[in-house]
Amino acid sequence: MAMDEFDIFKNKVHQKIGLDLNKYKEKQLKRRISQFMGRYNSSDFAHFFMLLSSDPELLAKFKDFLTINTSEFFRDIKVFEVIAGIIARLGKKQSLLKIWSAGCSVGAEPYSLAILAEEAGIRSYSILASDYDVNALQEATEGSYTANLLKNIPPSLLDKYFSRNGNKYKVKNILKAKVTFKEHNLLKTPYPGDFDLILCRNVFIYFNQDVQHELIHLFVRSLNPGGYFVIGGSEFIPFPDQYGCKKISACIYQKNTMAETGAPQKSGANRIP
Ligand SMILES: C[S@@+](CC[C@H](N)C(=O)[O-])C[C@H]1O[C@@H](n2cnc3c(N)ncnc32)[C@H](O)[C@@H]1O
Repeated sequence: MAMDEFDIFKNKVHQKIGLDLNKYKEKQLKRRISQFMGRYNSSDFAHFFMLLSSDPELLAKFKDFLTINTSEFFRDIKVFEVIAGIIARLGKKQSLLKIWSAGCSVGAEPYSLAILAEEAGIRSYSILASDYDVNALQEATEGSYTANLLKNIPPSLLDKYFSRNGNKYKVKNILKAKVTFKEHNLLKTPYPGDFDLILCRNVFIYFNQDVQHELIHLFVRSLNPGGYFVIGGSEFIPFPDQYGCKKISACIYQKNTMAETGAPQKSGANRIP
């Protein structure tokens, strides 16, 4: 079957920026890209790709546009209340608590997790924070935010973990020291493992169902038995037992322990709180 104009465009974009747009929800993606093209008076995918190829600034804007970076500290506060309990319990039981914030955008999510760990008095923990978008990672590394991203943080914690500089609030080093930012394309880069808690929130909603299915398998594989996987408020895992996990509260899933999968128990392997 002949490829249509949009398929050709997606393949060219994949070659150019390494993001496979075939894995995103087709209708939603096409509508969004068409809107973006409209801003540059283009309604033709071949023509728009020529514009992208000849204008590095436009290409950067297009990449930014594709990777919707909306985020804030303690986004979905009720979910974070449950995560606080999980971090406190796991952190007290384990020598090192390993957390991954996948699709971390500008860093609000991993720094929120670091605040929870600090507040729970956890000494030994590490947070890997990854994203495909290097500009977002750059902002995350700087850790300087305007008040609109910080509205869910109580004033006492704001003073404790941020220093104010004009209209910006900068994350203090005590949090920065615990978070490692890394470029990682969920559709391409191999997944690291051995995590107790993984957050991938408001990211895979953009991918088509087959890709979502694949990614959930990969995330669950990256968790230790009994580890937790957190997704966004408008995301959903159908039949979680097919991935070897169960839903424990809104947006939060737990990987089965060795006992639940029927595998022999290793001593110390079951790290359920
Ligand atoms: C809406 S933000 C979510 C940020 C944060 N998780 C939250 O819920 O507040 C979505 C993030 O997913 C990232 N993203 C999109 N596609 C990705 C991919 N293929 N690999 C890694 N990150 C991706 C975007 O760059 C963006 O920063």
